[in-house]
Amino acid sequence: MELLPWIIFIWGWGQCVTYLDHAGTTLFPESQIKGFYDDISRNVYGNPHSHNPSSRLTHDTVESVRYRILEHFNTCPEEYSVIFTSGCTAALKLVADTFPWKAASNEGPGSQFCYLTDNHTSAVGIRGVTALQGVGTVSVLPHEVERRARKPPTQTNGEESSAPHLFCYPAQSNFSGRKYPLSYVKGIQSQQLYPACEHRGRWFVLLDAACFVSCSPLDLSQYPADFVPISFYKMFGFPTGLGALLVRNEAAEVLRKTYFGGGTAAAYLVAENYFVPKPNVVSRFEDGTISFLDIISLHHGFETLQKLTGSMLNIQLHTFGLARYTYIVLSCLRHSNGKPVAQIHCDNDFQNIAEQGAILNFNLLDCHGRTVGYSQVDKMASLFNIHIRTGCFCNTGACQHYLAISNQNVKSNLHAGHICGDNIDLIEGRPTGSIRVSFGYMSSFEDCQNFLRFVVNCFVDKPLILDQKRLTKLKSAEPMESAASYDLASIPNGQLGHQNGQTITPSPERIAPSEDTVSKEEKNNGSSHTLTNLFIYPVKSCASVEVTEWPLGPQGLLYDRLWMVVNENGVCLSQKREPKLCLIRPIICLASNTLQLQVSGMEPVTVPLETSLANSDLRTSQSKVCGDRVQTVDCGKEVSTWLSEFLGKPCRLIRQRPEFLRDMKFGSEKAENFGPTALSLVNEAQFLLINRASVSFLQEHIANSENEGTWHDMEQLIQRFRANLVISGQEAFAEDDWSHLTVGDTPFQVIGRCGRCQMIGVDQKSATRTQEPLRSLSECRSGKVTFGVYLAHQSARNTTAVPVLSVGARVIPRISESSDKP
Ligand SMILES: *Cc1c(COP(=O)(O)O)cnc(C)c1O
Ligand SMILES: *[C@@H]1O[C@H](CO)[C@@H](O)[C@H](O)[C@H]1NC(C)=O
Ligand SMILES: *[C@@H]1O[C@H](CO)[C@@H](O)[C@H](O)[C@H]1NC(C)=O
Ligand SMILES: *[C@@H]1O[C@H](CO)[C@@H](O)[C@H](O)[C@H]1NC(C)=O
Ligand SMILES: *[C@@H]1O[C@H](CO)[C@@H](O)[C@H](O)[C@H]1NC(C)=O
Repeated sequence: MELLPWIIFIWGWGQCVTYLDHAGTTLFPESQIKGFYDDISRNVYGNPHSHNPSSRLTHDTVESVRYRILEHFNTCPEEYSVIFTSGCTAALKLVADTFPWKAASNEGPGSQFCYLTDNHTSAVGIRGVTALQGVGTVSVLPHEVERRARKPPTQTNGEESSAPHLFCYPAQSNFSGRKYPLSYVKGIQSQQLYPACEHRGRWFVLLDAACFVSCSPLDLSQYPADFVPISFYKMFGFPTGLGALLVRNEAAEVLRKTYFGGGTAAAYLVAENYFVPKPNVVSRFEDGTISFLDIISLHHGFETLQKLTGSMLNIQLHTFGLARYTYIVLSCLRHSNGKPVAQIHCDNDFQNIAEQGAILNFNLLDCHGRTVGYSQVDKMASLFNIHIRTGCFCNTGACQHYLAISNQNVKSNLHAGHICGDNIDLIEGRPTGSIRVSFGYMSSFEDCQNFLRFVVNCFVDKPLILDQKRLTKLKSAEPMESAASYDLASIPNGQLGHQNGQTITPSPERIAPSEDTVSKEEKNNGSSHTLTNLFIYPVKSCASVEVTEWPLGPQGLLYDRLWMVVNENGVCLSQKREPKLCLIRPIICLASNTLQLQVSGMEPVTVPLETSLANSDLRTSQSKVCGDRVQTVDCGKEVSTWLSEFLGKPCRLIRQRPEFLRDMKFGSEKAENFGPTALSLVNEAQFLLINRASVSFLQEHIANSENEGTWHDMEQLIQRFRANLVISGQEAFAEDDWSHLTVGDTPFQVIGRCGRCQMIGVDQKSATRTQEPLRSLSECRSGKVTFGVYLAHQSARNTTAVPVLSVGARVIPRISESSDKP
């Protein structure tokens, strides 16, 4: 079936990206930005607080945007006001801060704050509210709201004295996409639904519409919620940092503004005159100068949306159709042994557009029913240029509840132990988060197919099976109206099948080295290996320097990752974003005390190895490496010009300051060294070791499944892993179990396994990207995608001799019995 005809504009974001995180932020079309640009180039918009013509223009334009917003939600200035905020969260906070909460006292019961909760969503934003003294907090489950519907309590004359209450719920969950009935609005206001039916006093409804309004029409004349917070980037993709609180004028009257006390007369007038002119209501809450250019850009957001889609109703049908299709196929996918591929977190079968939005939340399962960690899925998705969201969606509580992780440790683990490149996505085999795909109005059927093909290619044990019974059942249940229902019959087997027609994807057990563990330990403990290569990487993410003998410095191999390339804003560049970095060859010349950078076709450039801070040309600065602040010094203009020319964008070279100490956090609680382990500009640890046996194991795996490219060159494959130490060994992945080792006389402790990402997809010779070897690595390593181990040097305190590592040295590993596996 064809796409709806209106999705035909050219997308400016690069055609090969499959963007599926519209619930995070949707994308803006070029025409919207162009319209906005033309507008502000033609017109002069002054500060709205001044009184000149340009500020008048701003004022009037902003007012017309307010009308436009209200029109979009089918209401008008007589009913609602628009208060601009920095976002939905700020709008929620505004209600929490200004709602006339009343504490319980002798005169009667106090206010109730009630929020809807279920397995997917936690309290809608307003957490601080519960801390307010005297305010009762009630959480209700969706079925309780309806099941306990009663007659409203009879109101007595004492109504003024009873407290106002607030009922808060999301129109759509940003976790699962579930929509909650809009009919709650009137039901609560008229006190026919629980818990409003059990508490006297006036009930107000706060409807968190941030997620809902991005793909669904909201009619405020039919569902007159009192407070409706939204964020505009979720609707238009631009501008960010702008939201609004839509507030019923009637309800706005009860909100109080704490510092309003000075102008009591005005407040009094306001209270008396029920339908105050709108600007007054608004100006009480919009502090300072509003973000007027952003607000003006909204006009172009609405225009573009209208032009491209016709209406929110069309958007809703289109996005729901895509989500439904994806849901049906995903839920019918089976591994070769018949086990399901995905566990989908949702409470319905995507049959009703009023109950479900265009969001799909799930975990992938292997053929043994074990969860595949979300960070593994995330890394693989990046490899295929598919952008999804993984983790807990800023909703750790809901996530833990939903995924049934009650262990308190999980939270502290997630916060304290979170380390760069190693998201803790599984704890004892249980997921700590999930995967979300979400659609927007510019999503296409091709996006769905790219995504499903990716899941089939990477995570299904072949041959793929489709649950035909389920497929038939879901297909036959017609979705309401003609929601862009894509023809299911034509897609699955043929197009989704493995592109190479490959059916051999052995499961981890079958291919992993499978000797029994006892003999394995005996064989490895104390057995001898040899150091075959030694690499240093003076400039982070640039090419390696191979050496045969090299001294250890205080932070690892001397001069390893002491420099890095940063962009004009001081942000570190890595091969992830800038693969060309690997073409820069650093040369360390100890004789002349210089670092030279070479690339073919350019004159080399030289900087001193040691930078003296006395040189006033050199700026010092602070940068971040993996969340750590590091102090650095700039290496000057010449090298900056050289790098900028090569990379085609402004950038600079910086060096870690000699006296700066950065401690290792990864595994530091395990480190047995005497002092903290000092780090250079590496991501996680001083040294990275890989084993040739593991490399050749992987190489064979690639050769068996790959038809592209040449993977016969072992040395090139080794380069992909950017290790410092390469050793020969007999058994693949034996290093995973080591706890200590010595290289020659130098003792090291194994700190942990090295988690891998798409960076190993960069060919270090040509700077092109390939899907291998990450794809094969992911296939042959169950659970985490790791390769190689991190080491820390165990220095003896009383020695002054500088240890030196040499190629050819004996490497003797040790497996300590008590070692808990990293
Ligand atoms: C995104 C979202 C928010 C938060 O919006 P901000 O723009 O981050 O303030 C709140 N509630 C829901 C339902 C959302 O989807
Ligand atoms: C949802 O939560 C309820 C109780 O809070 C629990 O009984 C139920 O099993 C949960 N459902 C799922 C699918 O986790
Ligand atoms: C999801 O919604 C909750 C409120 O329900 C909000 O606190 C959170 O920030 C939202 N998460 C994202 C990723 O938008
Ligand atoms: C270092 O100290 C230990 C014990 O404190 C001692 O046995 C060893 O001989 C010393 N080594 C050197 C090189 O001084
Ligand atoms: C490994 O060998 C060391 C000494 O050679 C010994 O102390 C240790 O117990 C051995 N570990 C295992 C798991 O066999």
